[in-house]
Amino acid sequence: MDKLDEIRTRLDACDDEIIELLTRRMGIIEEIIEYKKESGTPILQPKQEQKQEEALEQKLDGQRYEEEIKDIFRYIVSNSKRIQAKNLFNHNILLIGFMGCGKSTVSSFLCKMLAMDSVEMDAVIVEREGMSINDIFAKYGEEYFRNLETNLLIELSHKNQLVVSCGGGAALREINVQHMKNNGRVVLLTATPETILERVKDNDDRPLLRGNKNVEFIGDLMEKRRAKYEAAADIVISTDHKSVLEICQEMIGKLMEMDA
Ligand code: S3P
Repeated sequence: MDKLDEIRTRLDACDDEIIELLTRRMGIIEEIIEYKKESGTPILQPKQEQKQEEALEQKLDGQRYEEEIKDIFRYIVSNSKRIQAKNLFNHNILLIGFMGCGKSTVSSFLCKMLAMDSVEMDAVIVEREGMSINDIFAKYGEEYFRNLETNLLIELSHKNQLVVSCGGGAALREINVQHMKNNGRVVLLTATPETILERVKDNDDRPLLRGNKNVEFIGDLMEKRRAKYEAAADIVISTDHKSVLEICQEMIGKLMEMDA
């Protein structure tokens, strides 16, 4: 065996050890999630995550391959989160509710915590059409926009473990709700008209609220939509005066209950 072969043999043995260690590590991740589920411990623990990151920083501080190893750990942690998500949900999560109820905020937080992929329906439509929601409404009308929503929901129902932030009107069509439920749980986020106004007041992306940013209009439209939203929902979460962590925690708890 020449020198290079001998070195490569050692590298190979090293890879075997890494595989063994990663398998063990992922097994431990499964153990943690199982324990949390059984004991009712909150699934999302951002503080613990922070602590772990700091501990890793310390361990690697001044290490010869500090940057490279940190980079690898980012992947390890992200994949651990994926394992947790897979253990928790075998379906999509669709967030519905009135404009400004917090769908996008909740979606991005949950996706960050559980390394799930997120889909912002409005953003996908804007990108594909190459124009803003306001322009789509103005140029082709609301019905055209609603059809785009329906087609996108059909497409998403063939995927799994996505968090979908639905446009505020998406759940109003019966057929859309059927596509949502095809491979997903529907979560309705609610808020009072006052909270909604506070959240949307500085944003001009919503054609239906243009010139209508007041509690009366929001309250009326919300009331008109309430029955359809509620009929579509598998679970309902009120978001008033709650942090995004609290909302996500409550949602995961209710989704787990549903699957139990
Ligand atoms: C709409 C809500 C908007 C967007 C469009 C119509 C609605 O989405 O799809 O302006 O009918 O409620 P957000 O709820 O994400 O703002």
